[in-house]
Amino acid sequence: MAPKVLSFFTDFFVYETAKSVVVKSWTVGIINRVVQLLIILYFICWVFMHEKGHQLRDTGIESAVMTKVKGLGNFSNRVMDVADYVVPSQGASVFSVITKMVITANQMQGRCPETDNKFKCSTDAQCIEKLGSHLGNGIITGTCLNNNVTNGTTGWCEIEGWCPAEDDKINVTAMKEVENFTIFIKNSIRFPQFNVTRGNFPSSINHSYIQNCTNDPVNNPFCPVFKVGDILRHVNQSLDSITDNGGEIGININWKCNLDYDVENCKPKYFFTRLDAAFEHNTVSKGYNFRFAKYYQSEDGTEYRTLHKAFAIRFEIIVSGNAGKFNAVPFLINLVTAFTSVGLATVLCDIILLNFHKGADEYKAKKFEEVSGIVSESRNNIPYQGSQASIKALEKTTNDSGTFSIGRQE
Ligand SMILES: *[C@@H]1O[C@H](CO)[C@@H](O)[C@H](O)[C@H]1NC(C)=O
Ligand SMILES: *[C@@H]1O[C@H](CO)[C@@H](O)[C@H](O)[C@H]1NC(C)=O
Ligand SMILES: *[C@@H]1O[C@H](CO)[C@@H](O)[C@H](O)[C@H]1NC(C)=O
Ligand SMILES: *[C@@H]1O[C@H](CO)[C@@H](O)[C@H](O)[C@H]1NC(C)=O
Ligand SMILES: *[C@@H]1O[C@H](CO)[C@@H](O)[C@H](O)[C@H]1NC(C)=O
Ligand SMILES: *[C@@H]1O[C@H](CO)[C@@H](O)[C@H](O)[C@H]1NC(C)=O
Ligand SMILES: *[C@@H]1O[C@H](CO)[C@@H](O)[C@H](O)[C@H]1NC(C)=O
Ligand SMILES: *[C@@H]1O[C@H](CO)[C@@H](O)[C@H](O)[C@H]1NC(C)=O
Ligand SMILES: *[C@@H]1O[C@H](CO)[C@@H](O)[C@H](O)[C@H]1NC(C)=O
Ligand SMILES: *[C@@H]1O[C@H](CO)[C@@H](O)[C@H](O)[C@H]1NC(C)=O
Repeated sequence: MAPKVLSFFTDFFVYETAKSVVVKSWTVGIINRVVQLLIILYFICWVFMHEKGHQLRDTGIESAVMTKVKGLGNFSNRVMDVADYVVPSQGASVFSVITKMVITANQMQGRCPETDNKFKCSTDAQCIEKLGSHLGNGIITGTCLNNNVTNGTTGWCEIEGWCPAEDDKINVTAMKEVENFTIFIKNSIRFPQFNVTRGNFPSSINHSYIQNCTNDPVNNPFCPVFKVGDILRHVNQSLDSITDNGGEIGININWKCNLDYDVENCKPKYFFTRLDAAFEHNTVSKGYNFRFAKYYQSEDGTEYRTLHKAFAIRFEIIVSGNAGKFNAVPFLINLVTAFTSVGLATVLCDIILLNFHKGADEYKAKKFEEVSGIVSESRNNIPYQGSQASIKALEKTTNDSGTFSIGRQE
């Protein structure tokens, strides 16, 4: 029993190392080194330099955005200021700038004809068919108002609701001054993992500069004031089509920070996109519009309202980004992967040697030694017993260096 336990221990505490076969062939040698070089280059250039594989990355950016629009417009002989055309007025990261409105004043509850062509009629029967439709400006009563109202043979179905009904087919000119409006954007971000807080303009900017500058990627990259006309030029949109139909524009603020350098180098980049570009060539639901109403009460207590159908440019400020900083764990993991991957060259070279090379058979014979026969013949001399004694026995019986050399085969 005791010798068995002892031999178990001596068997266990051994070190095994692989025996190498050196192939002195130019082709395989060059392939081996080239593949190794490519793998090393891949890790240096792509994994470490481009993908920053040695850094810990924080993608959970926390961000707050505040906006302020400035500018005066002239819409239907009315001077419009910020309170008139920015909805909602809180200065959030999503807001609309109204460029055109169809205003229907003094609407009161009552009965009146429809205005939409869908509700044209000549007899009551045609209106009864449309009962329950919710495409109109009010509830269809089933009466066709013809001759008295239109003096013609065709009229419109009568509705009950806010009267007179809105007619949004009238021509109004959009407020073109929107081109000169400016948007001030204040964006502060934080990378919680590294406790880094940044703002989109440096604290050195002074009052007179901020009041007069407009952002421009070359001359004023850190000016937080954007001109709407410049943004439209960046997304290649014509002022006329977007002010007439409305649209959605995205202002992307991208933060990519390498915190291995000074945190002052962590600066934002701005990109602009037309978010509704997918529907640009659609015939239906083009642009962006919405309705809102203002309510009043006359002295006798009757309620009336002014309905606005507003066409607007909707701005959405989208903040994205990540930060990276050197960290031992990802660095070591990628380094070990790199070293391990260099060994992949061996696999490729083995495939070539064993299958496509001139000396394939010789190489095969050296690489795959068959030992089963020897084990049964002279069990005592074979080193796989594992004890130190057997290693000595090996040294006595062979003066093999442990390395085979197969000659060059030019
Ligand atoms: C507004 O525009 C109209 C013509 O579109 C013009 O007659 C009027 O003078 C303008 N008002 C102001 C204050 O510029
Ligand atoms: C339409 O005109 C006729 C007379 O031509 C009149 O009797 C009728 O009351 C009018 N209807 C309405 C709704 O005004
Ligand atoms: C309808 O006809 C009457 C007289 O026939 C005329 O006074 C009125 O202006 C006409 N209304 C419309 C909208 O044409
Ligand atoms: C609106 O203007 C267009 C051209 O600008 C014209 O073809 C159309 O008839 C006008 N519509 C109305 C109701 O005036
Ligand atoms: C915008 O401003 C420029 C320069 O101040 C001016 O020439 C242009 O007419 C303005 N655009 C509109 C639509 O008012
Ligand atoms: C984050 O940094 C600020 C100073 O920049 C410091 O006052 C605060 O204690 C830090 N918070 C944590 C959790 O380290
Ligand atoms: C404001 O800053 C600008 C450049 O950033 C500088 O040229 C200007 O002199 C400064 N003005 C004041 C009053 O400090
Ligand atoms: C604003 O900037 C323009 C040029 O960009 C300059 O001509 C003008 O004097 C500046 N105004 C103020 C008040 O600084
Ligand atoms: C802008 O749009 C016009 C036509 O809509 C096109 O011809 C032009 O190439 C576009 N420019 C860019 C920079 O995309
Ligand atoms: C060991 O080396 C000697 C001389 O260095 C040589 O004569 C002998 O053949 C070698 N034995 C083997 C097994 O290679």
